[in-house]
Amino acid sequence: MVLMSSDTLKFLEEKKALIDGMLRKYIPGKFDKAHVEWLLGKPSYDYTTKPLDKALAEPIWDFLDRGGKRWRPALFLLFTEALGGDVEKVKDFTATLELLHEGSIMIDDLEDSSDLRRGKPCTHKLFGVDVAINAGNFMYFLAFFPLIKNRDKFKPDVLLKAWEVVLEETTRIHYGQGTDIAWHRGLADADSVSEREYLQMCSFKTGVLARLAARLAVILNGESRELEEKLGTFSESIGIAFQIQDDILNIAPSKGWGKEAGDDINEGKRTLLVIHTLQKAGKDDKKRLVEILNMHTKDKKLITEAIGIIKKHGSVEYAKEFARKMVKDAWATVEPLIPENEAKKKQKAFADFMVEREI
Ligand code: IPE
Ligand code: IPE
Ligand code: MG
Ligand code: MG
Repeated sequence: MVLMSSDTLKFLEEKKALIDGMLRKYIPGKFDKAHVEWLLGKPSYDYTTKPLDKALAEPIWDFLDRGGKRWRPALFLLFTEALGGDVEKVKDFTATLELLHEGSIMIDDLEDSSDLRRGKPCTHKLFGVDVAINAGNFMYFLAFFPLIKNRDKFKPDVLLKAWEVVLEETTRIHYGQGTDIAWHRGLADADSVSEREYLQMCSFKTGVLARLAARLAVILNGESRELEEKLGTFSESIGIAFQIQDDILNIAPSKGWGKEAGDDINEGKRTLLVIHTLQKAGKDDKKRLVEILNMHTKDKKLITEAIGIIKKHGSVEYAKEFARKMVKDAWATVEPLIPENEAKKKQKAFADFMVEREI
């Protein structure tokens, strides 16, 4: 039986309760002293938990409860299953992957001056910039706690390796965000971005968490360095394909897309669509597209005009084909390594879902 995108949606739905349980373990819906002291020991002076609820638990759970696909931790669970690993032993690390993602998008919405996330105003719009920055940073640091709280389950060298990869990939996200920001703010190289530079930026900002899902699964399940490399590279590729599809949905949104359509244009983003159009278009279209991107406008008419130029040059079809080929080629490299079983079919469907998804 061939599995479809809808089977992956079902798989994500099945894993949600476990993942959310782990998220709640590290960030409760409401703080109490037992939790504060479990996480970080007894503080020196007096404190109440209400400020922590107002500035951390409430805004974070408002954000987490809006939905979110939870695909990074689900991918980690899928790899764990495929490797015949012990889900019970490694399950806390689902929180690592999701918290890094949640922290990064809460902060990303500030960086990108976005209005909407998951169909509601962004956290900084609802709770304030100060609260959003602090809560986003908190999630980044909290993501490391499964490494501390599961110390007795793993050998020291396994834990150290896991620390290393979590730290490396978390740091790389900031290379990606930094590059994206520098391009769309016109700080560096915006008009000469090549396809391969774009792919590297996407790898840094989006591919790395997918790769972390694979690397962590391999390391925690005691598998080889070689497998870590191969599954890691496969995941990085499908993560990049996911970002390309995200860029497509941004200008050609599906129903229920929970972000502001066209805001990549308003942000002046150099996406694969834009890079392709700049390569294909004549002088006038090129000039006009760059002009609109550099305006950072929220004017719907101008945004529609820019999208029109991108579509006219076949850039949506080009990007879609590009993403599909990335997934196909990536799958071909790992397909021979995975034993024929149910988890293998799910992995293939998961990889296809990254580009066929409409949400
Ligand atoms: C959004 O990621 C950020 C990107 C890397 C494009 P997702 O589309 O996975 O976000 P949620 O968690 O499902 O909302
Ligand atoms: C988000 O990238 C990537 C990270 C937060 C690391 P984008 O800025 O392109 O994604 P959206 O469109 O806001 O989700
Ligand atoms: Mg953004
Ligand atoms: Mg961004």
